[in-house]
Amino acid sequence: MTSIVQSLKQTNIAPIAILGAGAIGQLMYHKLSINTQEPHTNDVVFIGRDKQTALQQLSFIDLKQQPHETLATILGTDDKRLAQVELLLVCVKAYQVEQALIPLLAKLSPQCHIVLLHNGLGPHLPVAAALAKYPEKGLSLGTTSQAALKLNQWQVKHSGVGVTQLGHFCGSFMSKELTARLTALQSDNQTIEWHQPVLPVLWQKLAINAVVNPLTALNQCANGQLAATEYQSQISAIIDELVQVAKCDGITLDKAVISARVYQVIELTSANFSSMYQDVAHNRLTEINEINGYICQQAKAHHLKVPNNQELVDKILKLSQS
Ligand code: PAF
Repeated sequence: MTSIVQSLKQTNIAPIAILGAGAIGQLMYHKLSINTQEPHTNDVVFIGRDKQTALQQLSFIDLKQQPHETLATILGTDDKRLAQVELLLVCVKAYQVEQALIPLLAKLSPQCHIVLLHNGLGPHLPVAAALAKYPEKGLSLGTTSQAALKLNQWQVKHSGVGVTQLGHFCGSFMSKELTARLTALQSDNQTIEWHQPVLPVLWQKLAINAVVNPLTALNQCANGQLAATEYQSQISAIIDELVQVAKCDGITLDKAVISARVYQVIELTSANFSSMYQDVAHNRLTEINEINGYICQQAKAHHLKVPNNQELVDKILKLSQS
C-alpha cells in the first residue's frame, strides 16, 4: 500500500494521456510507454472515469507472444496533473467521444494536442467547435488498422500489424517533440503515416467500415465471407453512394481504388469478426451512426439519396435494439 501511495505522489509528469482503455487504447499505452516497470518514470497515463487517481496492473502479449506486466497510472478526472497533459489520444468508441472529451478540455494543458482515433466520422465536428474556445490547443484525426484483442478488461494481445494514419485537422499543430514521439512507433513494427489533408484517408477507412461492419453483423459472418459473389452488387452500391457523398463534401475518391482497398482488407482480415459483429453479438451499442449513419447525414445535407446505406443503418439499429 505504502509503495502505491509513494508511486502516485512521484508520478508528476503526465505529458501523454490516453482516454479509453479498450483494446486499441491499451495497445497504444504499451507501445508508447518508455519504461513499463516503474510508473514514476513512465510519462504515459490513462485518464479514467472516476474522480480518484488509481494504479492498475496491465498485461500485454506482444506479436512474438511474449507477456509483459505493467503498472499503469489512471488519472482521476479531478487530478491536477491533467493540466500537464500535452498530448491526448482519444481511443473511446465514436459515440462516446463528445461526452468523454469535451468536459476534460478545460482541465488539460492550454497547449494540449488532441488526437481522435476511432472508427467512423462525425465526432470531430463538435470537438472542433468546442476547441474554438482554446486557441492554443489543436486537433488531429487518425485511424489505425493495428489489431488488438481484449482477453479481459486489463489484458490485451497485439494480434495483427497494421498502419496508423494521422493528420492535422484544426487549431495549433502538434509540437515537433510529440510528432517525433508518435513517429518513433515506426521502430516497433507499426507503420505511422502522416497525411495532409487527412480527411480523404478517413473517408477511405469509412468505406471499409461501411461495407465490412454492417454486412458482417447482419449476416453473422467473418470478414472473409464478404468476398463471396453474392455480396458484390451490395458492396458496389454502398461504395457508389459513399463516393458521391464524399464528392459533395469536397473529397474526391476513386471508386476503383476504394473498392480494391475494401476487398484487400476483407482478404487481410478474413478470419476476423468485425467490431460491429462483436458489438451486436454482445448486445452493445454499435458505431453505425458514425459509419453508415455519417454517410446518410452528409447525404441529407447535400439532398442526396443513399438507400443502401440507410437500409443498413435501419437494420443494425433494429438489431441492436431488439
Ligand atoms: O471495425 C473493424 O472491425 C475494423 O475496423 C475492420 C478494418 C473492419 C476489420 O475488422
